[in-house]
Amino acid sequence: MSASPATAPLVICLGNVVADHTFRVEDIPQPPAKIAARSYSIGPGGMAANAAIAAARLGGRAAFWGRVGDDLNGEPLAAALAAEGVDVAGLRRLPGGRTPVGAVLVDPRGERTIISFRGAGLGTDPSWLPLDRLREAGALCCDPRWQEGVATAAAAARAAGVPVVLDGERSETRILIDLVPRVDHAIFSVTGLANFAPGCSPEEGLRRALACGPLKVAAVTQGEKGVVWMVPGAARAERTPAFAVEATNTTGAGDVFHGAYALAMAEGMPVAAAMRFASAAGALRARDGATPDRRMVDALVA
Ligand SMILES: Nc1ncnc2c1ncn2[C@@H]1O[C@H](COP(=O)(O)OP(=O)(O)O)[C@@H](O)[C@H]1O
Ligand SMILES: [Mg+2]
Repeated sequence: MSASPATAPLVICLGNVVADHTFRVEDIPQPPAKIAARSYSIGPGGMAANAAIAAARLGGRAAFWGRVGDDLNGEPLAAALAAEGVDVAGLRRLPGGRTPVGAVLVDPRGERTIISFRGAGLGTDPSWLPLDRLREAGALCCDPRWQEGVATAAAAARAAGVPVVLDGERSETRILIDLVPRVDHAIFSVTGLANFAPGCSPEEGLRRALACGPLKVAAVTQGEKGVVWMVPGAARAERTPAFAVEATNTTGAGDVFHGAYALAMAEGMPVAAAMRFASAAGALRARDGATPDRRMVDALVA
């Protein structure tokens, strides 16, 4: 992986990193069952970590801020992120902490079943975050798994004029209600938007997000149906259709979308173009089960 040039915009990604153990299986059986996997791999997952890798592969400089434990999974995750060109100076190893882990079961159609352990003993104190680095950042991209970290970093980013993107993924309603007003771009998953605005239609949910703070964009990604987004004052929502691909593994498509979108913001792309750019990155991730590089995404967008 060749490192992006020092002049490339810096995207700081804050939140979750997970040791993902991925099993490809014929089908997902009901218990009791014992089945053989067709293949197995281990690698870094987690929304913000996947977003950081995407930002680096797409030509940005990327840094990851978050926490792991000092157990068997922690150090290899740091090494794997560093091997992707992601700066891990802001990844803390907490003594006695347990690193988040995921078991990802992928069926032949590419649909996934995920069993996740969110980690333990990682603390919530964000006071050690290297907030000074935001001064050289082009965007901050956060997931909701470290609420205190997002609150602290987003406030510093706002003060520095750095756009903040939130991956509004499945979370407790109260966490999303706390975080959404702190960011500039709230881009939800279908479940995340339903958690943020229970009982609302997608468009009502997006309106509610725009009304709760000084947001510039509220959006919901809907897999192969594309992404619906809205800006303040607009009469109605816009839809950016998904690129048609044959999906083999949709794990991480949303994470890659968010990393690509944050990089696009750091590069100063207009919102509609950023939605297309990020959709292409998400589609290629769903097609290949791997994060694309810039050449691939630019080719699909063109
Ligand atoms: N099967 C697919 N075909 C084409 N594009 C996809 C597909 N799955 C995801 N994408 C793209 O990636 C974006 C994010 O994927 P989505 O599945 O909505 O997120 P998440 O993985 O968080 O649930 C979508 O809005 C779409 O642009
Ligand atoms: Mg997601």
